[in-house]
Amino acid sequence: MIRNLQDRIHIAGGVEMPGFGLGLYKAKAGEEVYRAVRFALDAGYKHIDTATFYKNEADVGRAIKDSGVPREELFVATKLWPTDFPNARETFEKSLVALGTEYIDLYMLHWPGTDEVLRYRAWDTILGLREKGLIHATGVSNFIADQLADMKKQTGEFPANDQVELHPWFQQRELRSFCKKNGISVTAWGPIFHGHLSEEPLMEEIGGHYGKTAAQATLRWHIQNEIVVIPKSVHQERIISNADVFNFELSAEDMERIDALDGKQRFSWDSTKFDGDAEKARKNANK
Ligand SMILES: NC(=O)c1ccc[n+]([C@@H]2O[C@H](COP(=O)([O-])OP(=O)(O)OC[C@H]3O[C@@H](n4cnc5c(N)ncnc54)[C@H](OP(=O)(O)O)[C@@H]3O)[C@@H](O)[C@H]2O)c1
Repeated sequence: MIRNLQDRIHIAGGVEMPGFGLGLYKAKAGEEVYRAVRFALDAGYKHIDTATFYKNEADVGRAIKDSGVPREELFVATKLWPTDFPNARETFEKSLVALGTEYIDLYMLHWPGTDEVLRYRAWDTILGLREKGLIHATGVSNFIADQLADMKKQTGEFPANDQVELHPWFQQRELRSFCKKNGISVTAWGPIFHGHLSEEPLMEEIGGHYGKTAAQATLRWHIQNEIVVIPKSVHQERIISNADVFNFELSAEDMERIDALDGKQRFSWDSTKFDGDAEKARKNANK
């Protein structure tokens, strides 16, 4: 279990990943992202999670450069969107330029996509970039266990990390145990309920027992379950307070009460059907 904001976990390929990071989905490109990353780096965060889909890599790169934090102290994660699978190499190179870096610590397929030929062709490109040292760890996101198993079958290895929706309402227990068995680390996206934190009164109640907020209690639940977290905020006070989770411990009883929330709600698309057309998926979800 990580003990502070800089603590790293070992992931496949000999890479060490800080177990706590800043997420940037829906942070507005420009000053909002730039300031959030600066706040996080000032607060001691070492892990930044972005994606080409978020359209904010250049602001992340600018903030990292201006922060003066040495690149080797940081862990920068970004992702390849399914519609970019046919242009994996070019898209990766654009990410490098935007982020102002010579390598990416963790590069992920953002979704499996529905075209397996394109998926594995993109993955092959990623493995080649890893060979060249341009990517340190190769990961995926939103892969279910069957898709991870298929990757092993097709390519001979599992990805180092799977980043999936995971929070007390959607605990992904089967996937977590599959990943644990196969040496795949798990990162939670939406760790504090993907913006719905205030709708779960139990977190505030439990946080209150420890003089902590609902967000802190939720993040602590992840940490005690050895799940990597990347909560998103663009507000300095939240960025600081979200990371203030290393000076208390949830009791076994409180962990169990949170465990009992599983199954209430999930927010993600279906990983076996989503082809990367976000607009189409949103329309279908609203039907
Ligand atoms: N791989 C994927 O497909 C995928 C999908 C979604 C997300 N992600 C990654 O995972 C990261 C985290 O997930 P997420 O952004 O979906 O959800 P999240 O981190 O669970 O929740 C973010 C929301 O919580 C608010 N918030 C932050 N701190 C708070 C606090 N202390 N009290 C109350 N509200 C608080 C944020 O608002 P403010 O910013 O206004 O504070 C924002 O609305 C993303 O940013 C992204 O990097 C990946």
